[in-house]
Amino acid sequence: MLTASVSTRIARQRQVTGIMKYSTKTGSLNDLVTPCLVTTLANAKKLASQWKAGPALSVATKDFDDKAGSVLLVNMPDSAKASRILVCGSDGTVSVADFNKIVNAAAARLATLKITSAALALNTITVTDRDVYWKICTTLTAISLSVYGFNNYKSSAQSATLRTVHAVVDNRSRSACQKAVREANALKQGFDFARDLGNQPPNVCNPTYLLREARKLGKSAKVKVSALDEKKMESLGMGAFMSVTRGSTTPGKMIIVEYSGGKKTDAPVVLIGKGITFDTGGISLKPGAAMDEMKFDMCGAAAVLGTTVAAIEASLPINLICIVAAAENMPAGNASRPGDIVATMSGKTVEILNTDAEGRLVLCDALTYAERYKPKTVIDVATLTGAVIVALGSHASAVFSNDQTLARDLIDAGEISGDRAWQLPVWEEYGQGLSSNFADMANIGGRDGGSSVAAAFLARFTDKFTWAHMDIAGTAFRSGPRKGSTGRPVGLLFRYLLDHG
Ligand code: BES
Ligand code: MN
Ligand code: ZN
Repeated sequence: MLTASVSTRIARQRQVTGIMKYSTKTGSLNDLVTPCLVTTLANAKKLASQWKAGPALSVATKDFDDKAGSVLLVNMPDSAKASRILVCGSDGTVSVADFNKIVNAAAARLATLKITSAALALNTITVTDRDVYWKICTTLTAISLSVYGFNNYKSSAQSATLRTVHAVVDNRSRSACQKAVREANALKQGFDFARDLGNQPPNVCNPTYLLREARKLGKSAKVKVSALDEKKMESLGMGAFMSVTRGSTTPGKMIIVEYSGGKKTDAPVVLIGKGITFDTGGISLKPGAAMDEMKFDMCGAAAVLGTTVAAIEASLPINLICIVAAAENMPAGNASRPGDIVATMSGKTVEILNTDAEGRLVLCDALTYAERYKPKTVIDVATLTGAVIVALGSHASAVFSNDQTLARDLIDAGEISGDRAWQLPVWEEYGQGLSSNFADMANIGGRDGGSSVAAAFLARFTDKFTWAHMDIAGTAFRSGPRKGSTGRPVGLLFRYLLDHG
């Protein structure tokens, strides 16, 4: 088979780039030797005058617009301890939105510099309603997201050179900052893992590849990785999942990663990811425009795996089960037809009226399978509907839940992590259109409110636990010139596990 050999050969080209690490540094800024110090204008002026470089800095920053989001790189004379200062606009007390602007601009500039290390000193900025721990978390997340690059398949490409970033902290806030730094290192691994999976081409990243990548998590002592193959899923009665994977020559998998960081008796959090490694729509074929972006239809899977990586790296004291429903949605002689009726693992029957509404079909069997873990909560994450992009754009992921406390906790985690989410309803009324003349339900139910209709379909498989569904079709990847996976909502989910896991 041509594609198999070509893709294995291509996959081997994967570049091994060094990993970046965050750490804290205490002591006086005056004595800190660094290739690049990131700080405010006022602070830069103070330091420069102590280093006898005041005039040089004054000249360089003469026209600097000192507001949130402005940055200027100033090369310093030899008398200075810092070879460069990355001057960040604004100082004093700022809003959360302005702080985000400041660190995003600084991070974007840092990622372009040919330096291997930098030091952060933004301590003079205070953020309304936020503490120093949050400031470090937010700054380091901004850096993690901007230094990321995916150049595995480019013959020549420039990747970020940054390898260490020191957060300069005072003794009083040292332990809070160390906690933030530890978590940021873990989260970076999780984000990178998720984004790499999302960006891989669909001839490489198929269900077999997802399983191979998931198995890498099993190196850790507290982690067990396993998978249900198609034969096993058939015997469990997962007729909905099977109806999607049947049309593909690459076999589907239900991948299960179990992380036991908590007490034996602690009920686990179960994360379920939609892992459609390519969504052609099946026999209800999608139009051709931008169809390549349907390689991102496994970003739910990437996000739950990435979150699991972060949880393992941070040694979170929780039990976590990660389930990935991995399949390819292809048209073929044996693919599902509109009108086919299948039985789900729950026993409920589904009439498939549109083979492009495949996400809910693979997820409903994964939800039923999750019952056996007697979960504390179940959160599924999926690029489920185009309708959610119309509703929320790319600013927020959608949250649907049968439990207001869980919905609230997820939205709060989004607010704190800067990886925002907003709630949409999953009332039974949205499920009314799902009625079928021939089966217990159909897999589509009208175009209006399509994201809530899809959620209402899933809700029918969640009676046994507290559940939330996140529709990430608008947030998990970008289109256009910056096309690529964002890693969202790994930031939100990791924050949720830190605060409520
Ligand atoms: N994977 C798509 C949803 C999607 C669309 C994700 C755009 C990312 C960007 C999903 O499987 C799908 O095709 N949904 C259909 C559902 C419809 C047939 C009820 C949709 O949104 O059009
Ligand atoms: Mn689809
Ligand atoms: Zn899909």
